[in-house]
Amino acid sequence: MTALDRPIYLDYASTTPVHPAVLEAMEPYLRQEFGNPSNLYALGRRAADAIERARAQVATALGCHADEITFTSGGSESDNLALKGAVLAAGRRHVVTTTIEHSAVLGAAHDLREHWGVEVTYVPVDEHGIVDAEAVVAAIQPDTLLVSVMLANNEIGTIQPVAEIARAARERRVLAHTDAVQAAGILDLDVERLGVDLLSLSAHKCYAPKGTGVLYVRRGTPLVPLIHGGSQEERRRAGTQNVAGIVACGAALELVERHRPATVARLTALRDRLIAGIEAAIPSALLNGDRHRRVAGNVNVCLKDVQAETVLIELDRERIYASSGSACHAGAQDPSHVLLAIGRSPELAHTALRLTLGAPTTELEITQVLERLPSAVDRVRERAPVGR
Ligand SMILES: Cc1ncc(COP(=O)(O)O)c(C=O)c1O
Repeated sequence: MTALDRPIYLDYASTTPVHPAVLEAMEPYLRQEFGNPSNLYALGRRAADAIERARAQVATALGCHADEITFTSGGSESDNLALKGAVLAAGRRHVVTTTIEHSAVLGAAHDLREHWGVEVTYVPVDEHGIVDAEAVVAAIQPDTLLVSVMLANNEIGTIQPVAEIARAARERRVLAHTDAVQAAGILDLDVERLGVDLLSLSAHKCYAPKGTGVLYVRRGTPLVPLIHGGSQEERRRAGTQNVAGIVACGAALELVERHRPATVARLTALRDRLIAGIEAAIPSALLNGDRHRRVAGNVNVCLKDVQAETVLIELDRERIYASSGSACHAGAQDPSHVLLAIGRSPELAHTALRLTLGAPTTELEITQVLERLPSAVDRVRERAPVGR
């Protein structure tokens, strides 16, 4: 089959293009408004004002106070700051998380265990990729400081019962953190309704550039900084702020929140059409993650008898861009820890294809993918079947 005239990008969970309105909002801060926000002359003050406007935009999206927003370098830093910053600030030595967290949370938890003597409990998920809120609560011990459960999984898109967990944690005076990186523009991020004390976001997952993140820290939550230096970000995170990135982050969150209901309705319909089309055309396909309790736009299927990496190369030739799991796993030989956690075998996990839709995805693109994916899988199967 000949390559498409226009490429089809189906990897929005990995990263997103910058929205033109977001680019327009940030551009002055890359050009004439280049001041250092810590400087007291007008150029610096305008940069500082821009940061505060962005902070207010993010606070509105999260339903919190502006002083509860800390800007970071991305989702990974926010997760690390939440876990390590909170644990190192407190005396308690136990953390509860799940087996399907992003590697930023798992890595921070591992570091706490290896280097700080903190005990970590990993609560498993069921075969649908959802953690049982009661099991998380049951893992809380007298010495537990924090529970960290992601709002939506980055590989299989499953939505976790964060509000239920946070409510129970709070009753037990335990902090609740959620990695909401994959939920921006898709799920409700209101921190009161979620009941969380800490929440991580990443700008590049919602139509702003890479390199900016957000950590919501509820007033009164003890937190030590991981990066020391100047007094920026209320001493929570030293370093001259990425003004343009922060402006973009504020504009992007405001934008995706405004369009959220329409985006979710449209992407849910496209997602379900894509799943149904794949299941009809590729009978061996096995959906990973709960069919309904998953974010709009996430499709993840095991193809069973073909390596996902080989299918991706075939799709790439036709200019269809997708993923075999989380981007952080690309190139890695280890099977996805998320797929193993839902009970897939390592062999099956290697056949998983992740297609994630975003606001720019069109009906026509889904039609074209459904026309091309089955034959791409067939070609790979004929050439390089698994287990032969
Ligand atoms: C759930 C989740 N958490 C954290 C991150 C890390 O975010 P960043 O790329 O901004 O460091 C990602 C990125 O893939 C993610 O999907």
